[in-house]
Amino acid sequence: METTVLTGAPTITPPRRLHVITWGCQMNVYDSGRMADVLAPLGYAPTADAGDADMVILNTCHIRDRAAEKVFSELGKLRLLKQARAEAGGRMILAVAGCVAQAEGAEILARAPFVDIVLGPQTYHRLPEMVARASRAAGAVIDTEFPADDKFDHLPDEAAPQGLTAFLTIQEGCDKFCSFCVVPYTRGAEQSRAEAAVLAEARRLVAQGAREITLLGQNVNGWHGTGADGAPSTLGRLVRRLAEIPELWRIRYTTSHPRDMDDDLIAAHAEVPRLMPFLHLPVQSGSDPVLAAMNRRHSVADFRRIIERLRAARPDLAVSSDFIVGHPGETRADFAATLALVREVGFAQAFSFKYSARPGTPAAASPGQVDEAEKDARLQELQALLRDQQAAFNRSCVGLTVPVLFTGLGRHPGQVAGRSPWLHAVHISGPASLIGTETRVKIEAAFPNSLSASLPEQERACA
Ligand code: 5AD
Ligand code: SF4
Repeated sequence: METTVLTGAPTITPPRRLHVITWGCQMNVYDSGRMADVLAPLGYAPTADAGDADMVILNTCHIRDRAAEKVFSELGKLRLLKQARAEAGGRMILAVAGCVAQAEGAEILARAPFVDIVLGPQTYHRLPEMVARASRAAGAVIDTEFPADDKFDHLPDEAAPQGLTAFLTIQEGCDKFCSFCVVPYTRGAEQSRAEAAVLAEARRLVAQGAREITLLGQNVNGWHGTGADGAPSTLGRLVRRLAEIPELWRIRYTTSHPRDMDDDLIAAHAEVPRLMPFLHLPVQSGSDPVLAAMNRRHSVADFRRIIERLRAARPDLAVSSDFIVGHPGETRADFAATLALVREVGFAQAFSFKYSARPGTPAAASPGQVDEAEKDARLQELQALLRDQQAAFNRSCVGLTVPVLFTGLGRHPGQVAGRSPWLHAVHISGPASLIGTETRVKIEAAFPNSLSASLPEQERACA
């Protein structure tokens, strides 16, 4: 996924233009916004045109294959723009941020010496200082340390508004060390933001218009930020505190680990109606030997039990997950067990990936690497099943009247669009005045990735 994040914020003169290219997860999208926030006081305002930019940031993701090649290919194009700018008497500062920067900082500077700044995800708050140094220096600045101080403490309070649906990072990093995963090496150890800071940012986002907040973290349900009493809190408690903010109608959190799905958080799904009935809970595999090889530290039965308890707490809960096929050692029988788990649980949607060896992770050096063609075949089989389940789930919504948070205009004239509680994109023919409201609509038709709806009679009369 590639998104260009444009974030407006108050600027000082002289105006400078910032272009950010973001790959990867919602955490990276959030980080891009925060990098734009810390640069706003230096006069940087967003531009959609890299050729026009005084600074370009590539915010990179390393989690699966070919990440570094994509970055180097983008850098090749930017080198030409940077040269053209220099020939015209200007200067473009080029920064590589995110997980590829963390994992391959030295390599980036060796292969792309025209890069000015390389910074890891823990050091965004130091960006203004790095930009100042890069503006003065000819040599590149590299900062991929895991500093002892907390990056969350240094981010500015004045974040750019995110709109009706906002993201809020509450936790970073991971100590789980799954066999296949680079995150513990690129994002470092788990760090939780204090409860008071999270609540303050949530209130600010709501004051700026947010009505739905998604709490983010690589291991979000492992959040243990300091609570009001000075002791570590839990995500269940945080959700309850957030639900006290009057205008915050919807709360979500992602991504969770089954091991951190504690009783209190499960109870919050029953007790807090504003906690949306959609949960992304990666299981990766339906086979116990593979889960053990992955160092997931839970069994298939544990996962099954967690889902049962969540569904007992919130019967309309839709479950999403991540799967990896072809982890080293995965046999045909192991894969069949994954298919069986998928059939048994029934997923509203899911992401599935072919295992790709990440250098430096334990699985990369494991025996029993699975043949590429076999991985392809397994992935196709799993994805066909998951697609059928998603289609069935979407069809099951037809005829229901559900609250939709309308967030903007639809693709076609006269349409407005929003989100169902289960994260579907929903579009409807209706007035633009619906935007910013949560309105009950009747689902008329289901598509692979969206739903269409109509206004019930009485709302139509009001509109
Ligand atoms: N190979 C394939 N998929 C991976 N993921 C993480 N690392 C790898 C890898 N080396 C997937 C996992 C994780 C999701 C974010 O990306 O399913 O949950
Ligand atoms: Fe990676 Fe596992 Fe941590 Fe998720 S829990 S970020 S898969 S190490």
